[in-house]
Amino acid sequence: MTLSLFWKVSLAFSSLLTFGQSAPTQRHGFPTQGSHHFTPAKAIYLITNDASNAVAAVPIGADGTLSKGTLTATGGAGGNSIDGATKEPAAPDALVGQSALTIAGNFIFAVNPRSNTLSMLSINPWCPTELTLVGQPVALPGQFPNTVAASAKNGLVCVGTTGAVNGVSCSSFSRKGLSPTDGLRSFDFVQTTPPVGPTNTVSQLFFSEDESRLFATVKGDPTVNNTGFFSVFPVNGGGWHSASSLASQDTRSSPSGTAVLFGSADIPGTSNVFVTDASFGGAIIAVDPATNTASTLAKQEIAGQKATCWATISSVTGSAFVTDVAVNRLIEMSLQDASIISTLDLSSNGDPGLIDLKAAGNFIYALSPGNGTTPAAVTVVDVSGGSGSAKQIQHFDLSGTGVDKNAQGMAVF
Ligand SMILES: *[C@@H]1O[C@H](CO)[C@@H](O)[C@H](O)[C@H]1NC(C)=O
Ligand SMILES: *[C@@H]1O[C@H](CO)[C@@H](O)[C@H](O)[C@H]1NC(C)=O
Repeated sequence: MTLSLFWKVSLAFSSLLTFGQSAPTQRHGFPTQGSHHFTPAKAIYLITNDASNAVAAVPIGADGTLSKGTLTATGGAGGNSIDGATKEPAAPDALVGQSALTIAGNFIFAVNPRSNTLSMLSINPWCPTELTLVGQPVALPGQFPNTVAASAKNGLVCVGTTGAVNGVSCSSFSRKGLSPTDGLRSFDFVQTTPPVGPTNTVSQLFFSEDESRLFATVKGDPTVNNTGFFSVFPVNGGGWHSASSLASQDTRSSPSGTAVLFGSADIPGTSNVFVTDASFGGAIIAVDPATNTASTLAKQEIAGQKATCWATISSVTGSAFVTDVAVNRLIEMSLQDASIISTLDLSSNGDPGLIDLKAAGNFIYALSPGNGTTPAAVTVVDVSGGSGSAKQIQHFDLSGTGVDKNAQGMAVF
């Protein structure tokens, strides 16, 4: 199919989709979210990524606002990539990625970058800030894990490592804990441990909406003519709770006009993905379900951007929201053509910029780890009025919860 034909089919398909009217889906045991009926989220989670790594669980009140949370040790150590410009440990954005932790069912999976391990914790659903470590962290065959994806449907959790030994490895999980991981599927790029970034590193692992494939975004380095790529690994076998495994070989493609692919989100009801690219802004790529190759459908430069790297999709607005670690604003972009819908300037709250973020019901939660001078904080944005309505309702200081500039990740329950 030619790109232009694909465009038309895709546009026709997407015009059939109306957010909030699509059939409710109950995936991962998450509360169903839609613009009309959804169970409010109960807590957000991130990793401190400090020497003694911990998961911070921050409760969400009925009005969407945050209050003081808890810390639960992961049993592993956090770490910092090296900032290629300063040669110093990087922070904020210590892990040069999105999804340093993730949720499937009532379980949290969190990376321990310095110890090369993955931890599993359970969430008490009646008290979602009460977490319990399940078993011991499992050793990974790669170095410097910075992103994790989990599939409840397949009982599979996969970790991206971005150090000298880089690639993807997976483990099966059950309520008893994690199994030993399988072998490394190498990305074969030349790096060090810890990695020197942000370019030439793994950005994010995430499953397709139907959990039949694992996606990975890998950043290139435009300064040395090294193009990044989008990697697709099929999940073999499986079905509900039967043994699944990840294919040993991926399909890699470099969607035209992209170079430094970063945080991404599946566009609901399509096989398209909204991706950020740190070198220009945001894009929509089509992942061909037959060939597993990715191609660019739309691309949008963001004027004045420094590093647009994190993305989430809100079912209430039917749009994507992206953040920039060095510009403190939230940009809303179209899921049809990636055009900019709105810009919420947050500069008056004092953060240097934002990293990981999650949409949940009527709200968006965006993390600023701070820079050591400014404290780590989460900006809470109300989008209940739909597209174009974003407004800050809270700037919640995380230093009282024991979170600092090394923090990374965002998951919501
Ligand atoms: C960059 O790489 C591409 C693809 O390998 C090649 O065609 C092109 O000539 C290279 N450009 C430079 C400046 O090296
Ligand atoms: C931290 O960020 C604030 C707000 O942007 C800025 O004023 C300050 O200079 C930064 N400090 C460092 C050490 O980068």
